[in-house]
Formats: sequence, C-alpha cells, structure tokens
Amino acid sequence: MRTRIVHAARVSSTQDMAREMMPRELGTVIVADAQEKGRGRRGHVWLSPRGGLYASIILRSDPLLSLRVGVAVARALQQAGIVARLKWPNDVLVAGKKIAGILIEVADGTAIVGIGVNIDSAPLSEATCIVSETRVPITRDALLHSILQEIKITYEEDIIEAYRVLCATLGRRVRVSIAAGNEVTGIALGIDRDGHLLVDDGEATRTIVGGDCVHLGTGV
Ligand code: BTN
Repeated sequence: MRTRIVHAARVSSTQDMAREMMPRELGTVIVADAQEKGRGRRGHVWLSPRGGLYASIILRSDPLLSLRVGVAVARALQQAGIVARLKWPNDVLVAGKKIAGILIEVADGTAIVGIGVNIDSAPLSEATCIVSETRVPITRDALLHSILQEIKITYEEDIIEAYRVLCATLGRRVRVSIAAGNEVTGIALGIDRDGHLLVDDGEATRTIVGGDCVHLGTGV
C-alpha cells in the first residue's frame, strides 16, 4: 500500500476531508495545521489549535485496528523519549494524563483513522503535551512518519501481545461506561484475543466490547 500525504491548513475536521475524498484510496493521509470542528470519541470535541498533530489515515477496516493504531502512536511517542502507555481501548497517556487520542470511523467499508497528538500545548488542564514531557523536540511531520511506520510494523506481529505490554489499564480498578447509563466497575483482568476488556466486577468476569474507561486506583 502506497502512502500519500495531503497537507491542509485549517480545516473543519480531517475526518470529514477524508470521508469526502473520492475515490477514497487506501494509504491516503490527511494532515492539517488546525481544525475548527475536531471531534473525539463518543461525541467529544477535540480542541485543535495550531501546534498539534491532526491526521486522518484511510485504511482497510479491521477489528483490531483501534488497538493497532494505539500501539503505533504509543511506540512513536516512546521513540521520542516519552513514557506513553495506553488506557483501554486507545487513549494515549503519560503518567495518567492524555497526550493523544484516536477516533476510528468507517465509511463504505474503509476505516478513517483519526489521530490527534498534543505537541506544543495541551488544550485541557487534565491533559499533557510533548513539549511538557520531553526537552528533545520532535516535529509534527517526523512524528507522523514514525506513527505511519509503526502502524505498518503492527501488521507483522501479535498485536494483542504488543497491546498488553503497553496497556496501563490491566490490573487496575476501572469504571467503564458501556451504554446509555450502564457501567461496569471492577478490576481489569485482561484483554481477550478480540481486543475486548475483561473486568471482574466482584460477581463475574464481564467482557466489555466498547466503552469509556476511567482508571480508579491501583487495583489489587
Ligand atoms: C479521542 O480521544 O476522543 C479521539 C480524538 C481524535 C482526534 C483526531 S484529530 C484528527 C482527526 N480529526 C478529528 O476531527 N478527530 C481526529
């Protein structure tokens, strides 16, 4: 698959630009300097001022894509000297603070993988950015290339095993919001072969397919 990078200045959302591309060629990457309507998972806004990485990549849809891209972003940050870990399914954290997020949307069978990384600043006080975490600067484009390279590598390995190594959720007490008003609280025991989170809620082991996870403590 050939990678083709399209640069844009200020856009509404790189996700929308990717969606509107016709034909939507696999391997196309759209990267913008800023977004006016950046969006995150579960209807959240992704604040996108200049000085961050905002990219959408068109890839083949794959059930483990979300974990694959999480691993790739965490590893690219680690190569930049940042101790990045993953909160299930794919929030990228440094010492508990979010530094990057991933949004996957599917359009006509292709996946539009949105990646946002805080580089120069963290738009929210509970988040962090590359500049706060390391003195060694990395440019946006170097970071993007490193992420793209790491995504390719993940197709050659056992992604669940690679994910478990980077996952900060395992062994912790968590609360996961799974659907309107429903949540599961317990200890995160593991990740199954489908990438689902296994949580012991005190009565049974629950298999969580998707949801918003909060780390509550250190677990047992
Ligand atoms: C999240 O953690 O909630 C996911 C955030 C994803 C943000 C990226 S920035 C590039 C792409 N365009 C968007 O509008 N969102 C994603």
